[in-house]
Amino acid sequence: MKWTLASDVDGTLTGDRASLDRLASRLEQKRVVGELYLIVSTGRRLEQVLQGIVDEGLPKPDAVIGQVGTEIYRPPFDNETRPMVAWHDRLLAGYSREEAVSFLDGIDGLVMQPEMYNTKLKTSCYLDRCADPKAAAMLIGHRVAPHANRYQVVWSSGRDLDILPAASGKGKAIRFLVEQQGLDPVQVVVAGDTGNDASMFEEFDKGVVVANAKPELIAMAHTLADGRVYFAQKPHAAGVEEGLEHYGVLDGGS
Ligand code: GLC
Repeated sequence: MKWTLASDVDGTLTGDRASLDRLASRLEQKRVVGELYLIVSTGRRLEQVLQGIVDEGLPKPDAVIGQVGTEIYRPPFDNETRPMVAWHDRLLAGYSREEAVSFLDGIDGLVMQPEMYNTKLKTSCYLDRCADPKAAAMLIGHRVAPHANRYQVVWSSGRDLDILPAASGKGKAIRFLVEQQGLDPVQVVVAGDTGNDASMFEEFDKGVVVANAKPELIAMAHTLADGRVYFAQKPHAAGVEEGLEHYGVLDGGS
């Protein structure tokens, strides 16, 4: 039986190195015998994922979804690897960076994220210096709502706000990859801890929320049907491992 794990990185895989080492080695055992397809699905850029494999013990993936689902990468991986053109072109069709930036006009305390996190397909800022970050996020959400066919707002960690193409996001990027690679969508398990992971849980019906998850993801996960989300007792990689045992991807569950 071949499973697919699509996991977020920061806070989900990272945060407890000893547990990550144990999980990474169990995942690698499954990958080498062809029983697991591993997707790393993150807000990071590709080179930060590759660096994390060296420095932070991240597991070796079969595919990387970067920049919150606006980029998809397939091996061989190096810092020159280009994102998948079919996905890039599909997203570019409906997205205007200028229009996306205009939704952020005149919001007191808003700080744009560094240039490397602002791309043709992703407009990202910090709201933690606003008097009321959540209210600012909601205001931006209201501005974008009439254009929901082209844009979406992703709000994470009480700080990060991304304006992405409506057709992008982690969940839709995983769906694209699953179809392209001929993987079974029923055998997909997703894992995450913050708001930018919510779309993965909406898109697939086996999810693991780690114990250290942020309130915005926990609240969203509770709106989904019973049984679709496993709320792990343990945080970080130990929580992912616990969830994979729950679904029978790894041995040892109840
Ligand atoms: C990552 C990205 C950042 C984004 C955040 C939430 O931290 O680097 O640009 O805003 O995820 O999606």
